[in-house]
Amino acid sequence: MIRVAGCGSKVQSSDGHEKGKVMIRKAKIEDVKEIQQLIKLDSARGNVLPRSLSDLYDHLRDFFVFVRNRKVMGVCALHICWDDLAEFRSLIVKEEARNKGVGVKLVKACLEESKMLGLKRVFALTYRSEFFGKLGFEKVDKAVLPHKIWTDCLKCVKFPDCDEEAMVKEVI
Ligand SMILES: CC(C)(COP(=O)(O)OP(=O)(O)OC[C@H]1O[C@@H](n2cnc3c(N)ncnc32)[C@H](O)[C@@H]1OP(=O)(O)O)[C@@H](O)C(=O)NCCC(=O)NCCS
Repeated sequence: MIRVAGCGSKVQSSDGHEKGKVMIRKAKIEDVKEIQQLIKLDSARGNVLPRSLSDLYDHLRDFFVFVRNRKVMGVCALHICWDDLAEFRSLIVKEEARNKGVGVKLVKACLEESKMLGLKRVFALTYRSEFFGKLGFEKVDKAVLPHKIWTDCLKCVKFPDCDEEAMVKEVI
């Protein structure tokens, strides 16, 4: 079993990590440096937006981490944008832990939290539309998302020629 700490539920492990101590929990201060390393690697590959240390401290409470043997192997952030909308950000699983269901579990932990918060919709801007599609997200025109969400995009080197897809899911 993987305990989803701070989320009030448990999810079944089928990821082959049984030998080590694994859990999904809300991020703590001690995780920040490891989160930064994960983001650094994958932002250099253009998969996620880069984030400064200061930004990570500002938004630490958005983050869930997947921890194995006290090492952060995956991260995902759920950022509240408005009264009915939140964004998935910085979803990354360390290369050595990929394709074992960790990414799905992180998204599910955030979905559970979004339900608990009373949010109506969540979205992701992503190159992994198939991954999010399997989790019930649907493609939408980026224009239907509120202007407020583009603040972060201004920091992106690709702006304004963003080729990410917008995926939305109703929270039920
Ligand atoms: C995207 C990413 C987070 C996925 O993490 P992961 O741990 O490898 O993902 P999972 O093992 O949970 O899922 C991998 C695949 O198995 C499928 N899968 C795994 N468990 C599943 C389950 N229980 N039910 C259905 N499908 C499942 C997923 O849908 C996914 O399929 P896909 O690759 O065809 O989309 C990871 O590849 C990554 O870090 N990529 C680089 C950063 C990035 O691109 N982030 C996305 C930014 S939005």
